[in-house]
Amino acid sequence: MKVLVTGGLGYIGSHTVVELYNNGDEVIIIDNLSNSKEEVLDKLETIVGKKIKFYKGDLCDKELVRNIFKENKIDSVIHFAGFKCVPESVQLPLKYYRNNLDTTITLLEVMDEFNVRKIVFSSSATVYGTPEILPLTENCVVGGTTNPYGTTKYFIERIMEDLYISNNNWDITLLRYFNPVGAHKSGLIGENPNGIPNNLMPYVFKVASGELECLNITGNDYDTVDGTGVRDYIHVVDLAYGHVLALKNNKHDEVKIYNLGTGKGTSVLEIVNMFEKVNNITINKRFAPRRIGDIATCYADTKKAKEELGFETKYTLEDMCRDGYNYVLKNK
Ligand code: NAD
Ligand code: UD1
Repeated sequence: MKVLVTGGLGYIGSHTVVELYNNGDEVIIIDNLSNSKEEVLDKLETIVGKKIKFYKGDLCDKELVRNIFKENKIDSVIHFAGFKCVPESVQLPLKYYRNNLDTTITLLEVMDEFNVRKIVFSSSATVYGTPEILPLTENCVVGGTTNPYGTTKYFIERIMEDLYISNNNWDITLLRYFNPVGAHKSGLIGENPNGIPNNLMPYVFKVASGELECLNITGNDYDTVDGTGVRDYIHVVDLAYGHVLALKNNKHDEVKIYNLGTGKGTSVLEIVNMFEKVNNITINKRFAPRRIGDIATCYADTKKAKEELGFETKYTLEDMCRDGYNYVLKNK
């Protein structure tokens, strides 16, 4: 299958490109490098041992997207391109609505024009807002989002559902990711955000490597095993493989929605302890106030993805802690 991967030089996109090649698929990437570097392309080519066709440009540029579809016989699309920083989305909501919605609408319009109607979209567990029940199933209520980033994911899900209602020939899969961590075992690709990270594990990696001084554990009075927040951490390579399975799945009678997580909740203290043990490092840490808008606990019900996609995670929390930090050390 020839797959267009939007945002394919980013964290999850790049790992998915590797899994697609492992599956025998061919990939075309579009990325404007707003949150990635062109050198990721060389690293991907090293890993997969092949030249990868790359278009450097903005997915909102309709003429460019049309050219991509004219020049390549694309079978399906995996759509990662978008902005993802929650606090920035609160400061700059229009930047998020413009980019996340425009990229998606432009892409869908051009796909329709070229009769390519198979798409997998990167949604997020954030669409569930504050969980009413745990584990979260795909039938849980969505839309109670607490920031513009999350709302763009919710809106895009709705847009895609409306599109399917208008034309049942669309083959749409929405993947709701839980918390991706880790990196490819080669250490060539991974996640190493510029500046001060918002997410827990990138922050831990920077404390471990000496770039940041101390981890603030944001909240130790939640109703959880040890008072710290509980999340469903999933190795990015497992998450990436979920996209390969989603593309293979030919169920066609509705918009397909799957949680991609492990089904296991891990507290901040548990994952930090695991990081320290696996990498033999002590993390300088202190308790700090809760982050505004944070929830106590969030983890996935993974039954539907297992039954319908055959999705099962292989990697452990240890792998996530080791592989993520291995990438950071190799790319310091
Ligand atoms: P990322 O920022 O590493 O990757 C996104 C890529 O898209 C970047 O390479 C960026 O340069 C590119 N991009 C952004 N706007 C573009 C545009 N207009 N045109 C072309 N390229 C553009 O993010 P990621 O962590 O790999 O996330 C991928 C997707 O998964 C995003 O849509 C994100 O919202 C979603 N998601 C991520 C997480 C997470 O924790 N990382 C969780 C849930 C959902
Ligand atoms: C964040 C995003 C969410 C996104 C998800 C996956 C917010 C409010 N939400 O959620 O939209 O879908 O990532 O990318 O940003 N923590 C610390 N210290 C830190 C950072 C985090 O203790 O410096 C704690 C948090 O309180 C939380 C846990 O670590 O309990 C995980 O935090 P984080 O990695 O930011 O993920 P989410 O909160 O799940």
